[in-house]
Order: sequence, then C-alpha cells, then structure tokens
Amino acid sequence: MTSIVLFGPPGAGKGTQAARITESTGLPQVSTGDMLRAAVKNGTETGIAAKEYMDAGKLVPDSIIIELIRDRVQQPDAKNGLMFDGFPRTIPQAEALSTITEVTHVIAIEVPDGKIVERICGRFSCVSCGAVFHDIFNKTTVEGVCDQCGSTEFKRRADDNETTVLQRLGAYHEQTSPLANWYDEQGIFHRIDGDRDIDKITIDILQALS
Ligand code: AP5
Ligand code: MG
Repeated sequence: MTSIVLFGPPGAGKGTQAARITESTGLPQVSTGDMLRAAVKNGTETGIAAKEYMDAGKLVPDSIIIELIRDRVQQPDAKNGLMFDGFPRTIPQAEALSTITEVTHVIAIEVPDGKIVERICGRFSCVSCGAVFHDIFNKTTVEGVCDQCGSTEFKRRADDNETTVLQRLGAYHEQTSPLANWYDEQGIFHRIDGDRDIDKITIDILQALS
C-alpha cells in the first residue's frame, strides 16, 4: 500500500485540490478535519474529545488522530493506498503513518500567510455533496446553486472566523511546518505555488505525481 499526502496551511486549497485529483490518482481522499467534524456532529466519544481543540484552532492530540487513521486504513477501499488531506500534522503522526503505509509523495501547497484569512473567511460548502466554494475566488456558476449537485443549501464551518484562523495558522507554523524538513530529507517533498489559479495548481500537482 502506497499513499500520498497533501500538506499546507489552513486554506491552502488541500480539500479543493484533493477533490480534483482523486479521480486521476484513484486514491480515496482522507481528510482528518472532515472525519473530526463528522464525529463532532454525530456526538461520538472522539467528537466530544476533539471539539474543544477544534473550536480553539488547536491541534487535536496525536493519540486521537492516530486512532482515527488506524481505523480508516482497515476499510476495504484503503487497500491500494489513500490520499491524506491535513494529515499528518506532527512528527509523531508522521512516524505512526510510516508504520502503516509507504508515503511516496508529499505535495506542499504553499500560500503566503497574508492570503489565508480572506481565503478561509469567504469559504462555504454544499450541504449535500460537500463541494467547496468561495465568495470571491471560487463562486458557484449560478448564484445559490451548487455546480456539482444542484443543491441550494450551503454551510460555513464553525472554525472559519478570523480569530480561530489565526490560531490555526499559529499551530501550523509551530507544530506542522517542521514536518516539511522531515519529509524533504526523505526526498519526497514537492512544493507547489498555491497562490495561483486553481486549475494551474491541479496541473502542477498531477505532474509532480506522475
Ligand atoms: P482541517 O479541516 O484540516 O482544516 P485546515 O488544515 O485548517 O485546512 P482547511 O480545510 O481550512 O483548508 P484547505 O487547505 O482544505 O482549503 P480549501 O480547499 O477548503 O482541520 C480543522 C481542525 O481539525 C484543525 O484546526 C484541528 O483542530 C483538527 N485537525 C484536523 N486534522 C488534524 C490532525 N491531523 N492533527 C491534529 N488536529 C487535526 O480552500 C479554502 C478556501 O479557498 C475555499 O473557499 C476555496 O474555494 C478557496 N480556494 C482554494 N484554492 C484557491 C486558489 N488557488 N485561489 C483562491 N481561492 C482558493
Ligand atoms: Mg480542508
């Protein structure tokens, strides 16, 4: 089993790009953020434990995340590998992952800090299919209608406010960015300029993966 990792700060476009490249890679997207939000919504033990960290923009403890991933890789669709989005975020998480699957590519989507708040604060997503849009940068083609499934219901994330975003960005710089060197030393780290047109970024990611 070999896997790839999408790496980058909050709002870099990890989820946006994952949805676009999953067809080409054939690897299912695994977003620990999405899994945690589902757990919070369902009121599971994991969700209850994770909520306070997420609301504060802090990383959820490694033990909780590693257990989520260990369960996820047991599912049948994981047998050919997975595309991780927002995981790993600490060196202990990356070490745990290396005992589960071989990571062949880490795709780092780079966006300057000054662009992050506007990216996050304009984000909304479709309630039915989860497609992600932006008030300015990635509007729906017809206002109020999802391009992907036609639904007219949208939502915004509880942690998508300026205060929490700045906390998340701080956690990224302190706890997650050291992983860049860790993976770079393994020769599998690919930097992609994420401050460009969404289509151009997809092309570069697919090229890095080929
Ligand atoms: P998570 O859900 O992973 O949030 P995040 O890392 O902060 O990343 P985002 O999902 O906010 O951004 P994204 O890179 O996916 O951007 P998107 O494509 O949506 O984690 C949430 C929380 O869960 C964490 O704070 C933590 O508490 C916890 N957690 C999760 N995983 C964890 C882990 N492994 N360990 C510990 N804790 C964990 O794009 C953003 C917006 O920009 C959208 O509106 C989009 O339309 C727009 N956009 C995308 N690309 C472009 C572009 N090129 N130009 C202009 N706009 C663009
Ligand atoms: Mg995301």
